Amino acid sequence: MTTRIALIPGDGVGPEVMAEAEPLIDWARSRGHRLETVRLSYGADHYLSTGETLPEEAYADLRDGFDAVIFGAVGDPRIPDGRHAEEILLRLRRGLELTVNFRPCQPLPGLSRQGLHLEVFRENTEGAYCLQGSTEPGRAVDLAVHTEVAVLRLLEVAFARAQARGCALTLAHKANVLKHGHGLWVRVFQSLQAAHPDVPARGMHADALLCALVQDPAPFGVIAADNYLGDLISDLTAAFAGGMGTAPSLSWAPHRPFRCAVLAEPVHGSAPDIAGKGLANPVGMILSTALLFRHLGWESEAETVERAVAAAMRDGARTRDLGGSLSTAGMGAAIRDRLSG
Ligand code: IPM
Ligand code: MG
Repeated sequence: MTTRIALIPGDGVGPEVMAEAEPLIDWARSRGHRLETVRLSYGADHYLSTGETLPEEAYADLRDGFDAVIFGAVGDPRIPDGRHAEEILLRLRRGLELTVNFRPCQPLPGLSRQGLHLEVFRENTEGAYCLQGSTEPGRAVDLAVHTEVAVLRLLEVAFARAQARGCALTLAHKANVLKHGHGLWVRVFQSLQAAHPDVPARGMHADALLCALVQDPAPFGVIAADNYLGDLISDLTAAFAGGMGTAPSLSWAPHRPFRCAVLAEPVHGSAPDIAGKGLANPVGMILSTALLFRHLGWESEAETVERAVAAAMRDGARTRDLGGSLSTAGMGAAIRDRLSG
């Protein structure tokens, strides 16, 4: 069967980093994988010229006619309320029920904190990002909705991963104040703890966790968190491994409700201030593509890409955010030059 992958470069630096991921998809095809890519132009320009964010038919086609999405970034200063970002990216995450957002942090050769292997599992569809609330004169409300089914889905994956790695699992929460929502998280966590007595698992207040992480991230293996805390924690952990430019992510729906059940995207955003200048680091996008290859069962291609990134870094290839002088395209080429096996 042919794997159909939708490419959505989006805004800002999205198209530049996508241009470095696309040759890897062609390379995977050359290695015998039957795949087809379709490039979709949704994003700020499309919205400003047509008024469309992600039209219903396009969304339905993505959901039912594709297996995966590779996403660049959305966000544009011409659309200050971020309406299109919400209706494209958050809609895909929520609509496709991509509950699990996996954000690994493993420093590449030459970066500090060698040996660190932290992984954040962020719930990706609800919590404070449910976009429900109101603004009244002198008062504003944002709701955070947590459902047992999504929390359980996310935590089951986090427990299984900690078990497979033989590492500690920490739940980040603020159940001391967010008694309802995070109270639910703690209850579900405790029920899974009972079912996984071999996983060293504990809950931690997120504020204390952040302090402990900055002091010494080494003891933490897997961290699970709701959408909001996971968003914050994963940017912090990105800083342990080269910063925003190198951090990958993969979102998926473990229960596979639709054909399209996985989305790869770098952790960084659209970075409009550096867009179009060849300054963006493509490593986050390239490593996200490797995570997608692994998810699709293409382990050898995933490993080869990850090894090529590590080899390029070992040889001193760096974009400017890491103190080097390579452009986005130069870094992409340095990585492709080292694909072998
Ligand atoms: C991320 C981003 C997004 C998020 C924004 C662009 C809505 O920060 O993927 O972490 O907060 O989820
Ligand atoms: Mg974020």
